[in-house]
Parts: sequence; C-alpha cells; structure tokens
Amino acid sequence: MNNFLPTAENYDSFVVIGIILFFGFLEFLAGHLKQTNRSQSDWIQEAGSFFVLSVLTKPAIVLIVILVGTTFFPQFGDLINHWNFTLALVLFLLVDDVLQYWYHRFAHEYEFLWKLHRPHHQAEEMGFFIAYRNAGLYYVLMPNIWWIGMFTFLGGAEEVALGLVLKQIVIISSHSTIQWDKSLYEKPFFRPLMSILERIIITPAFHYAHHGKSKRDGISDPNGNFGNMFSIWDQLFGTAFYSRKFPTELGLENDPKEPWTESFLYPIIKSKNEKSELSSGYIKEKTTTLAPITVELVKGTNYLWCQCGKSKNQPFCDGTHHGSKFKPLLFVAKRNGKVRLCNCKLTKTSPFCDDSHKGIEEKE
Ligand code: FES
Repeated sequence: MNNFLPTAENYDSFVVIGIILFFGFLEFLAGHLKQTNRSQSDWIQEAGSFFVLSVLTKPAIVLIVILVGTTFFPQFGDLINHWNFTLALVLFLLVDDVLQYWYHRFAHEYEFLWKLHRPHHQAEEMGFFIAYRNAGLYYVLMPNIWWIGMFTFLGGAEEVALGLVLKQIVIISSHSTIQWDKSLYEKPFFRPLMSILERIIITPAFHYAHHGKSKRDGISDPNGNFGNMFSIWDQLFGTAFYSRKFPTELGLENDPKEPWTESFLYPIIKSKNEKSELSSGYIKEKTTTLAPITVELVKGTNYLWCQCGKSKNQPFCDGTHHGSKFKPLLFVAKRNGKVRLCNCKLTKTSPFCDDSHKGIEEKE
C-alpha cells in the first residue's frame, strides 16, 4: 500500500483545500453564504489564518523537526518506515488528536493561550473556514503540528498525509453550516447509529455546543467538548456534553470585536481598546462582595451563577471566566420570587447564600 501513496508534500494540502472548497460549495448551494453577516475583517482573519498555517507555519515546523532529527538523531530516520500502515496511521491519529485535545483545553483554561484562541470563538456564525480562525502564534505552539514533523521524520509521511485528510474532513464538517447530522438525529431509525457515531467522532452538534455563547440555553457548553477528530477524549476526561441540538447564539459575550490585525497578530499587535482582553494592562478584577445579592428569579428559567468572582454582572456569569479553569454553575429557578445568591463565592449551597460570609465578617 505504501508504494501507491504519494508523500505528504504531494497531496495532503491539496486535498484539504479540496475539502474546504467542497464544503464552501455546499454552503453556497444551500444559500448560507448569501445570508452571512461576516465582515471583511472576519474573512481576512479566516482565509489569512489558513494561508499562513498551510504555507508557512506547518511546513516550517515540519522542516525544523526533520533538520534537527537528521542532524542529531539520524539513526531514527526510518524507524517506522516498515511498520504496518494501518497501525502506524492509528497511532499517528490518536497521538495527534489527544495532543490537540489538551492543547485546546488549555487554551480555554490559561489566559495567554486563551488570547491566542479567542478569535476562533469570536465567530458569531459557523462555516467551512471557521476551523482556522486563531492567532498566528496559536499554531506555532500547537504540539500536534510538531508531532506531524516528528512522525514525518520517523518515516511516517504517508500516514501523516492520509491522517490529516481524514482529520480535516471531520474538523471542517463539524464547523460547517451543513449540519449533516441534524436530520439523522431527528429520524428514529438513525438514532442508534448516531449514538454510536457521536461516541467516536466529533459531529457538528457536538462541536456547535462548544461554540454556543452561553450554557444558559441548555444546548451549549463553551467549557466542554474540546475534541477535534475523536470524541473519546472528552468522554475519558469528563468534558463531553451531548445536547444533540444546535445553539442559535454563537460567539462570545461582551465581545469588543477587535479587527483581524489585533486578533491574528497578538501579542505583536495589541488592542488599543482598553475594554479588550488583548490590550496592554487589561486586568480581570475581582467583583465579589461579602454580602449576598438578592435577585428576582422566574420559575423554569436557566441562570448561570458566576463562580470565578470576576463577572461584571454579579452574581451572574458574563463570560469573564474564559481563559481560566473556572466555569459558571447552571441552575433552573424552581419558583418565582426573590432569593439571596452568594457573592462571596464561599457558600456550600451554591448558588444560594448559606451565610458563609458571616464567618469572614466576624474575623475581620
Ligand atoms: S464570569 Fe463566568 S464564572 Fe465568573
């Protein structure tokens, strides 16, 4: 089989461009491109990000790894050349995908990486190009691109090429407005098949939930579903959320919408908007108070209680927690009326005040 497959340099980039064009064409046929609200800045960010990744970042990283490998470890250059193709392909894909799962998850949990990944979540609509919307530096630090270089150096260029094509089919389709799984979830005949498939690969519904603006809609979980090709990592590491529906509100809350220059080139170019996370000196300040906040709740309504203590809309979440390990607590109001919600964030009966703040008041 190896003899019939061209090398990575020969075809994977072209096939990936073909996959993008294919989904772009389907979105065009479905009339989605006519309805798009994307700005010129959005298009530049998405196309530019893809171009730089494909033409500069990935080839440069692969070349660096091969140069280092052939200079310092020439004895390993052919290590997996004679391995069984399928086994090597599976190994490549699993390692690639688990590395990307953790990198993506860290990009939601650590502030600096979040700033590089934020452009991806600023998109208020999905589409065939959205997968590539990130700051340029995001891709330089992406461990699985370095893994691609290593696997190529070790003699697995053919597995890398096929693996990347398979992976991009899943990734681009899960971002596309062609929601191929939607009608399958709705038909009882296909539901058993879908419940197996969604446990293995990332379906559009699974990934759309990650792009939803807020967990308040009961469909989204922007702090979950970090997988890229396989959903097994989210299940293994406790971040899988299956709503099997598509959120209508996508993007970030309180987004100052920086132009592509600042989103793509951060930290080289920083925002001049002091309300932007990408500006110098921007700090997420604590907004907690010892006293609880009394709010009027409406029975049956979803609320998100802030747990990070930095929301500007206490006691509720306003999305400020992005870039930290905190996530809001979703609760449904059981009755109409006033309740005291904790705002010292020390309660043991979250989200309700249990007077834990009084202990602190007494100490002070
Ligand atoms: S702002 Fe979302 S948890 Fe605090």
